[in-house]
Amino acid sequence: MFKFGSSKNAAISRACLARICSRGLSSETGSKLEGKVALITGAASGIGKATAAKFIQNGAKVVIADIQPQLGQETAQELGPNASFITCDVTNESDVSNAVDFTISGHNQLDIMYNNAGVACRTPPTIADLDLAVFDNVMNINVRGVVAGMKHAARVMIPRKSGCILCTASVTGLLGGLAQHTYSISKVSVIGIVKSVAAELCRHGIRVNCISPFAIPTELVMQEFTQIYRGVEASRLVELIHKAGALEGAKCEPCDIANAALYLASDDAKYVSGHNLVVDGGFTSFKTFGFPAPDQMQ
Ligand SMILES: NC(=O)c1ccc[n+]([C@@H]2O[C@H](COP(=O)([O-])OP(=O)(O)OC[C@H]3O[C@@H](n4cnc5c(N)ncnc54)[C@H](O)[C@@H]3O)[C@@H](O)[C@H]2O)c1
Repeated sequence: MFKFGSSKNAAISRACLARICSRGLSSETGSKLEGKVALITGAASGIGKATAAKFIQNGAKVVIADIQPQLGQETAQELGPNASFITCDVTNESDVSNAVDFTISGHNQLDIMYNNAGVACRTPPTIADLDLAVFDNVMNINVRGVVAGMKHAARVMIPRKSGCILCTASVTGLLGGLAQHTYSISKVSVIGIVKSVAAELCRHGIRVNCISPFAIPTELVMQEFTQIYRGVEASRLVELIHKAGALEGAKCEPCDIANAALYLASDDAKYVSGHNLVVDGGFTSFKTFGFPAPDQMQ
């Protein structure tokens, strides 16, 4: 996914990743989503799991839809009675449709559809060497999967004239050069899809938004880093990822995306639609010249 400098296996345990992913997640409860029902794809781990926990802490019932049945069941159990799980591969439209129908049959409504499932990719980094089979596969998950989620959420939200659709894009969809073409293109597409679909669904009272996170050491990112930086300890890789950020004294964590998703899903954002909420500590907002101070030129 990411672009790396020229190039050296650290194993990262599930327990270690779970610690990283739950860091900063407070057990603080609220009522911003009281009575709401959410379906979150890719919520067996990482950002999706943190968001499911946050939504439940705020009164929602959450259906976790993920391609990993065992991990998904474990996550639902961990999150308690307001979480349930359905196996879903977002590349399979009938799985997405079933996940929506499962939510309606269990809870009678779908208020929040969060199309979060996504994958990284490993392809030769140059456009001339682009592996189009990998490209098709990633676009199938990261883009077509999002469109399928929107289509089936809209099917049940339009008759109710309300709903909130969220997606996970990325800073790599905002700036060139941060990731391999395939991943960047998939995330640019998510930002575009949100604008296109928001334009139609606003007249049905449905809000459509996405969130663009900075790099976070979730399973998706750590798998890639442990392959690139073989033999380097996981804790050093986590540090490397956090140090790439621009905002001194803070690091981007799953809870930051969960908080952004809570805002967008709640009535606090009742007039926000077609928006890409960038959670990157300012990283994509500026470049600095790095000119030396006058006294350094004497
Ligand atoms: N971690 C980051 O740095 C970062 C930054 C920007 C955007 N994102 C995006 O955030 C989203 C969540 O990723 P994460 O970082 O939490 O990684 P993660 O690997 O922890 O979570 C991804 C989840 O998606 C699921 N998934 C993968 N393919 C699927 C499919 N076909 N159908 C259903 N579920 C599937 C996985 O089983 C996993 O549970 C992704 O869309 C990713 O592109 C991540």
